[in-house]
Amino acid sequence: MLKDKTVVLGVTGSIAAYKAADIASKLVQAGARVEVVMTRAATEFVTPLTFRSITARPTVTGMFDLASEFSIEHVALAEAADLVLIAPATANIIAKLAAGIADDMLCCTVLATKAPIVLAPAMNVNMYHNPVTQENLAKLRSRGFSVVGPAYGRLASGEMGLGRLAEIREILESVRQVLGKRGDLAGKRIVVTAGGTQEPIDPVRHIGNRSSGKMGYAIAQAARDRGAEVVLITAPTALSDPVGMEVVHVQTSLQMREAVVKAIAGAHVLAMAAAVADYRPVAQSRSKIKKRADTLSLKLVRTPDILAEVEGEFIKIGFAAESEKLVENATEKLHRKNLDLIAANDITAADSGFDADTNRVVLIDAQGRAERLPLLPKSEVADRILDRARGLLAAER
Ligand code: C5P
Repeated sequence: MLKDKTVVLGVTGSIAAYKAADIASKLVQAGARVEVVMTRAATEFVTPLTFRSITARPTVTGMFDLASEFSIEHVALAEAADLVLIAPATANIIAKLAAGIADDMLCCTVLATKAPIVLAPAMNVNMYHNPVTQENLAKLRSRGFSVVGPAYGRLASGEMGLGRLAEIREILESVRQVLGKRGDLAGKRIVVTAGGTQEPIDPVRHIGNRSSGKMGYAIAQAARDRGAEVVLITAPTALSDPVGMEVVHVQTSLQMREAVVKAIAGAHVLAMAAAVADYRPVAQSRSKIKKRADTLSLKLVRTPDILAEVEGEFIKIGFAAESEKLVENATEKLHRKNLDLIAANDITAADSGFDADTNRVVLIDAQGRAERLPLLPKSEVADRILDRARGLLAAER
């Protein structure tokens, strides 16, 4: 999605400016053409050469810099931009942008551009909480600027507070989300489940299914990047919450069912990538069960089959992790649960399924057509599944 996109990266004078080098590098790696514009203060923290080396493009530092092709035509960058990202954005640049000041190259570019703008503020905690900064940010938000962060944590002053530059991962996810706003899933509401539910036995133990959550998170992120409104309902995983979507944390299958039923109202697609436990203990012990006896029996009861239960005007997508008769078993599940599409994967293969970043799935539709996808990164499997969901949505109309 970032491929061949022009991202103007504005860097301003905060101690977090060194992190902008990593942001530039990640954008370049994702295929973007990155044009860095530094304010004078930023050049006190990092040198233009750093960015020039990373982006293989001249770094713009002033409006009157004769070495830069952009300084002659001072709004050329504004026109070339698909997106402007200012990271870190100081209280000063935020105030200038809110007021419409155009006394340096970055301000001019922002004032003249029609591209979407993302700000990642970083500053001292008191500067951030100062009503004038808050008013300026509110003003910019109301004009359509996206703001990511700041985060809470240790600041350069040694204090703890809000003011740290958001995580680079979050900043890059915001960029993708903003670029994807007019994507092919714009206006669609997509509910995704992920992770393995945990069914408590006592306060310290549970039974559950193995699941890293990676496939579900990949679908949620890909849908967001294509403009969808996403609700991610997740059982515990080791993954961080993606930005730009509603994330609902649940633990048990019953909680997951409740969250799905609530989220599904008005949804266009439900993709259930969660590994929902099939059984749960009938009763949960209030206190920790002591290990006295040599054997222990647990009485289990079936959990609700969420996917089979929910019905409505949405595309239902399920997953089938199988260790034998892949297509046959998955097709049976597709019919039994009344699905539009099922993604089946062979969990005995080492390069797909649990914990892996890649997956090899067979997509089977309600007509029984099976599409065998090659081994792909989970992000790409996610896009293929969403391509099919989009096709099914279009066919419905
Ligand atoms: O566990 P099973 O192989 O039947 O799972 C197939 C699909 O059904 C998966 O998409 C899973 O998320 C969903 N499922 C569910 N509720 C359950 C069990 C599975 O929604 N109790």
